[in-house]
Amino acid sequence: MKPISVGLLGIGTVGGGTWRVLARNQEEITRRAGRGIEITVVADKEVERAKQITGGSARVTADAYEVVRDPTVDIVIELIGGYGVARDLVLAAIENGKHVVTANKALLALHGNEIFAAAQKQGVMVAFEAAVAGGIPIIKALREGLTANRIEWIAGIINGTSNFILSEMRDKGLAFDEVLKEAQARGYAEADPAFDIEGIDAAHKLTIMSAIAFGIPMQFGKAYTEGITKLTREDIRYAEQLGYRIKLLGITKKTPEGIELRVHPTLVPTRRLIANVEGVMNAILVQGDAVGATLYYGAGAGAEPTASSVVADLVDITRLHTADPDHRVPHLAFQPDQLAGTRILPMDEVITSYYLRMRVADRPGVLADITRILADLAISIDAMVQREPGEGEEQVDIIMLTHETREKHINAAIAKIEALAVVSGKVTRIRLEELGRN
Ligand code: HSE
Repeated sequence: MKPISVGLLGIGTVGGGTWRVLARNQEEITRRAGRGIEITVVADKEVERAKQITGGSARVTADAYEVVRDPTVDIVIELIGGYGVARDLVLAAIENGKHVVTANKALLALHGNEIFAAAQKQGVMVAFEAAVAGGIPIIKALREGLTANRIEWIAGIINGTSNFILSEMRDKGLAFDEVLKEAQARGYAEADPAFDIEGIDAAHKLTIMSAIAFGIPMQFGKAYTEGITKLTREDIRYAEQLGYRIKLLGITKKTPEGIELRVHPTLVPTRRLIANVEGVMNAILVQGDAVGATLYYGAGAGAEPTASSVVADLVDITRLHTADPDHRVPHLAFQPDQLAGTRILPMDEVITSYYLRMRVADRPGVLADITRILADLAISIDAMVQREPGEGEEQVDIIMLTHETREKHINAAIAKIEALAVVSGKVTRIRLEELGRN
């Protein structure tokens, strides 16, 4: 049978990896897909470089629109990134009856609803395994492998750059700013590093996973996003002493009141496997009602790990493209007319535990004042440490771990604690999740 024809938009890091993996593993991929998969045309601004990579085996053009309109192309791979021209090209490809493979998490988190609706209308597939956690087949797992389950919650380390920074801060006792530059030099960072360190990239990926897990539309605008820029090495050290690691987690959870959708630094017990995921690696913990906890670990970025997911999508489409569109796996795991309008909980309503650090005068009664405030708001203390004051110091750090409480209650308590004359400066608040047994 004639190979399926693929048009590639962007032959940079991931595009180059995709080209290589397809070429190297062509024989096995063909045996799996049932027919050959061939990149016949590549669009890239750097035409000469693209020609070098493809070595004359594919047509090269600088005009991406030429590819999405090419009648001989069956599948378009979008690896341009961003949500400007990438959105227009994906919609144009769909309009022209092409299936689409994309690694573009930002595009799907912001415009996924529009893109999937267009794809459904045209009867084409939009596949996006590479958009979440690079090489880890988490979309496949959530959408197909766990399809028997009611997903209860997902907690993931889904941004390698920020995980690398946190690992280095803990390992080497370095400050955030010192590690950031090294992280950027590693090449994992997004074009705008704020996307990594402010939790935006993680929120894009979490939005996609939440939609698939709970059968809801993409709602990136309702995700709570807090990055790692304010974390200090002191907090990382104190957390360590209390038996916790601080990780930037993306958490989505179904509660009777609505769905939590939040990215923030989180204390996780050191004994959990996910707490020991270091460097740029990603890991996602999924709790299903039937299967219990499952953990997915691997490279969240990089040329060939991400290409591994892109090529898997190409194989899926090659196998399914002749199937009746109604009999394919739905884009968001649930049938399109079955998406739920479940509300996303505002952060104030979220229930979790907390790490609090405050600097207080070393005098009798100070602790009593603080615990009274917490007690009045029904916040129970789980553990507490007071650092020994340094020589001649009149102030000490108090670190408290609380049991679960509602975010609005901890915020009210913090405001009252900060208003005490014996407390200096701000109270540091970091959320804490036990993450069950795994
Ligand atoms: N900037 C991302 C990360 C790359 O650091 O994980 C993959 O999305």
